[in-house]
Amino acid sequence: MSALQSKRILLIIGGGIAAYKSLDLIRRLRERGAKVRCVMTHAAQQFVTPLAAGALSADHVFTDLFDRQDEQDVGHIRLARECDAIVVAPATADLMAKLAGGLANDLASAVLLATDRPVLMAPAMNPKMWSHAATKRNRATLAKDGVRFVGPGKGEMAESGEAGEGRMSEPVEIADAVAALLAPPAGPLAGRRIVVTSGPTHEPLDPIRYIANRSSGKQGHAIAAALAKLGADVRLVSGPVSIADPAGVTTIHVESARQMLAAVQSELPADAGIFVAAVADWRPAVEVGEKIKKRAGEAPPAVEMIENPDILATIGHGQSRPWLVVGFAAETENLIDNAAAKLKRKGADFIVANDVSHDSGVNARGVMGGDRNRVKIVSKDGIHEWPEMSKTEVAERLAALVAERLRTITV
Ligand SMILES: Cc1cc2nc3c(=O)[nH]c(=O)nc-3n(C[C@H](O)[C@H](O)[C@H](O)COP(=O)(O)O)c2cc1C
Repeated sequence: MSALQSKRILLIIGGGIAAYKSLDLIRRLRERGAKVRCVMTHAAQQFVTPLAAGALSADHVFTDLFDRQDEQDVGHIRLARECDAIVVAPATADLMAKLAGGLANDLASAVLLATDRPVLMAPAMNPKMWSHAATKRNRATLAKDGVRFVGPGKGEMAESGEAGEGRMSEPVEIADAVAALLAPPAGPLAGRRIVVTSGPTHEPLDPIRYIANRSSGKQGHAIAAALAKLGADVRLVSGPVSIADPAGVTTIHVESARQMLAAVQSELPADAGIFVAAVADWRPAVEVGEKIKKRAGEAPPAVEMIENPDILATIGHGQSRPWLVVGFAAETENLIDNAAAKLKRKGADFIVANDVSHDSGVNARGVMGGDRNRVKIVSKDGIHEWPEMSKTEVAERLAALVAERLRTITV
């Protein structure tokens, strides 16, 4: 049976070009057995009509906070409660900002503030709006407040011939994400909270330059997805990557090592921590406030580096240490010796060691950025060598190992 069978979905349609796709979303949700009721913002009605949304949902469409008829019995509070989940599609920059700021000056924002139901947002906007610092801040705040996100994806923008990140997910993907949101937690990791880090960190030199590494986030994201599939409540703290947030996972986006540590700490306590991110060991000692200028005749600037916080060691030896701590070690030499030393030094239960040297033979592109991996699992019980496999398979096997370790623990 579909996870959406007989579920009541309140669909808030925001004022973006992608509103036309929300009409199809109504159909996709209903064909899986959901009952759909729509709220449309005033801006949304510039793009699609309440008549179309009403005909497709077979229900009244709500548009006005001060509607005498609907508000006789405080309709906005009823709308917020008489549903199993709220989906905002398209989630405009404006709606995200309103909810992040706690505003409630129209029907959509009042409903969002008054609800205690799970909220899923499908953002859609111009890539410049999506990458604006204000939108990034709002997204991070909303994720922290428990709002789930699906997309946006990359591609052509409908309105301008521009391309980039900001395209609303397809209706079928949004319907899948709603189903994942409402599926009863099942699986061996149901009820477990697991923090995962993924991707590189960016360490700023000045407002436009930074020091980074080649980590793509593929392995960490795959692990987060595999843990979520086993029922875990996964908090993924991701450095800057160009891959999509995994479905069914709460993703918190950060840039630097210091931000990553703070985000991890604010997600604790957790049952397990899996530290996959390639965190920069050092950062420039000074972050210059203005762009460092190239001046004729002057020598290139010297960059003094200082040590970054060690996230794995801080958490592994910390007071709020998760019951299970897993670290990753990307080594180019003395793989096993270095991993075994790291196990002790960092207070980890497992180190997943991968050889990122050029001649590791995994594939021509190497482990970082590639799709395959060959790892060794180092623990106090010894070393287990896993054969070369895809990063998804490594993730599934590691998730099973985590589930096995947590099976007997009641925290
Ligand atoms: C043609 C056009 C297309 C727009 N597309 C988007 C969009 O895709 N995403 C977005 O966040 N805002 C978009 N906007 C701006 C919003 O419509 C505007 O911020 C509006 O106030 C949003 O209201 P709402 O959040 O209440 O729906 C667009 C505006 C116009 C005129």
